[in-house]
Amino acid sequence: MTDPLKAELLSVALEAAARAGALLRDGRPADLGVAATKTSPIDVVTEMDLAAEKLITDFLAERRPADGVLGEEGASTAGTSGVRWVVDPIDGTVNYLYGLPSWAVSIAAEIDGETAVGVVAAPVRGETYRAVRGGGAFAGDLPLTVRPAPAFGQALIGTGFGYLTERRAAQAEVLRALLPEVRDIRRGGSAAIDLCDVACGRLDGYYERGLNPWDHAAGALIAREAGALTGGRPGEAESGELTVAAPPGLFEPLQARLDELGAWRD
Ligand code: IPD
Repeated sequence: MTDPLKAELLSVALEAAARAGALLRDGRPADLGVAATKTSPIDVVTEMDLAAEKLITDFLAERRPADGVLGEEGASTAGTSGVRWVVDPIDGTVNYLYGLPSWAVSIAAEIDGETAVGVVAAPVRGETYRAVRGGGAFAGDLPLTVRPAPAFGQALIGTGFGYLTERRAAQAEVLRALLPEVRDIRRGGSAAIDLCDVACGRLDGYYERGLNPWDHAAGALIAREAGALTGGRPGEAESGELTVAAPPGLFEPLQARLDELGAWRD
């Protein structure tokens, strides 16, 4: 049985993600533009990122006032309860800006620094993925299971690219080497959805350099609870340096090849 704290955090995360998802899906202005840029001219924020983060953080403050929050658009409170929320109001902002369907609200809850709950709501896909640590991963009533590991050369691998020019050039070099070695590569535009796609067997594996905690916290838990291994460079946990997710049998050669290719380097 799920312990009461995790059950409460899951229910709060699901409701926050549903409310933000409805706002984003139903309230997207037809003339949506860029409100600001962050690390580079292509790293954009829309008014809807800001509105959704405010909706989520107001909701969390009302339901769990003693918790800490880390949000992509600047929310940062320490909290006193040992619980911290890690929030990406829109993971896949560029997709959202262009009206492409692959974007998600990603909400994770950490207890004492460890991700305990993850929710990724993808409203246009009509899917919400969730996991509680030790309790499996689900989309609605459907338990999620990774696809059995294929041979390396048969693997469909997802990835993504950062917003800084030099990092993108380094990522292109890794891609150039890897592309002829696998079945194919997908760039979906939302790391959270990519990780959920590993969880439900729509991708064999996924990697990316340069993610932030709000991009991967919820999705990585969902992938792990569906049977994937996740990590960074060999022996390390996933981080901003490198995030890799794949089922056992593919994870190890993928991680080793990415390390050899320097996929963690800028
Ligand atoms: C981005 C997406 C994208 C990934 C980028 C992330 P954002 O998040 O997850 O797929 O390739 O590295 O920054 O900016 O849309 O929240």
